[in-house]
Amino acid sequence: MMNDIVVPSIRIEVACSRGFDKAEQSCLVYQHVHDILEERETIPMGTTFTIPVPFVLQVEVCTNIDQYMERSKLQFNIYVLQESPSVAETLNHGKEEVEISQHMLLPSMELHGLWESLIYEEGIKDSMLSFAESSMLFARKGVDTNLITCNRLALFHGPPGTGKTSLCKAIAQKLAIRLNVEYRHSHLVEINSHSLFSRWFSESGKLVQKVFSEIVGLLEDKHSLVCVLVDEVESIAYARDRISSNEPSDSIRVVNAVLTQLDRLRHFPNVFILATTNITDSIDVAFLDRADFVQYIGHPTERAIYEIYRTALHNLQAIGIVEKEGKSNRRLSASTVDGIPSYEDATEPGRASCTTLDILLQIVKLSAGQSGRTLRKVPFLAHALFVKKETDSMLNFLTAMRQAIRKVQHDKHLLEKDHSSVEAISAGISSL
Ligand SMILES: Nc1ncnc2c1ncn2[C@@H]1O[C@H](COP(=O)(O)OP(=O)(O)OP(=O)(O)O)[C@@H](O)[C@H]1O
Ligand SMILES: [Mg+2]
Repeated sequence: MMNDIVVPSIRIEVACSRGFDKAEQSCLVYQHVHDILEERETIPMGTTFTIPVPFVLQVEVCTNIDQYMERSKLQFNIYVLQESPSVAETLNHGKEEVEISQHMLLPSMELHGLWESLIYEEGIKDSMLSFAESSMLFARKGVDTNLITCNRLALFHGPPGTGKTSLCKAIAQKLAIRLNVEYRHSHLVEINSHSLFSRWFSESGKLVQKVFSEIVGLLEDKHSLVCVLVDEVESIAYARDRISSNEPSDSIRVVNAVLTQLDRLRHFPNVFILATTNITDSIDVAFLDRADFVQYIGHPTERAIYEIYRTALHNLQAIGIVEKEGKSNRRLSASTVDGIPSYEDATEPGRASCTTLDILLQIVKLSAGQSGRTLRKVPFLAHALFVKKETDSMLNFLTAMRQAIRKVQHDKHLLEKDHSSVEAISAGISSL
């Protein structure tokens, strides 16, 4: 109940592995965290650290802390990460096995760190999480749905590789962490939309039934939170009016079946539905209408690109593939913990000159317009194609990254040219 009242407290999330004893060790956790928070005046939201308590993997500060904040107002979410891998649900069709969904227990070890790894403009991730938290609260409190619509359905759309699927999973994980007092168990069911839209149209109805019956089975336990991820929803919920008359009417039936089933899920207060798509204009209006939160996820901005590269380079330094910067650059890294300054410090007009930083900023500019997925590949491509040895200096590695991003752009350009010539040829053929 306490969790439902909004108090200006500092939220602390503590990730533990199996073996952590809440009753025995919680006090020790509180002490360590208090001590660390007392030491520092300001702590930005998202800061993580470790404490010497057995089975505690990470402590995350989930509130921006300034010097005036009372450190006694800590709200702890201590959770144990589930280690069991996700299980695929399959349906047999003759000799073939169709994988229709993936089921995972939350919070999952597999998804640990995903939330922090996703970088968007400030505030976006948090507003999405508050949306999810508010809608779960409304449902728990039994809001009159005739007066206030709250479907607990969020839709993320945008170009490929911008982290939509990852973000949905990360939100589900966060919800499970934050609601671990309200719900004893949490599940993530990922629906494989493509497989539902079976080649054997007559089977599709059965597949839809099976997937949703299983979800309902989980939801019937009111102590369970169930997050449902309908990935690439366009393959099932594409606009009925776009289905041409020569397509089998079965496909329309599938779309209807999905919508009916979604309506059925909404009656359960313990469900949260997340959907992703690359295309918004061909999504069924009835589906769009049901979503009470539609968020566009685009390509990263320069600040986000910088941060994506900074975290990647930091990791490469930690494992020794990129050498740690020598003393000569210390003066630049005074304000940072990991040697590569923050974006603000790096772009400050008066900063001291530094070749590595200049190249990094140049790479950031060159990377504009690429998806997060491509950016995360650049350090690997740089190593595989241009570094080719176990360890190299930051300067050489960055130079290799610059070559890699140029290659990525060049390849993309060739592909686009190829694509347009194929289109031109097929247009020529069809006009014959
Ligand atoms: N803004 C970002 N910050 C950090 N990593 C990102 C970002 N965007 C994408 N990525 C990384 O790119 C990879 C692909 O992400 P994901 O599969 O979630 O994208 P998607 O939008 O679902 O793509 P698709 O539309 O092709 O399904 C992930 O490893 C993810 O971590
Ligand atoms: Mg995806």
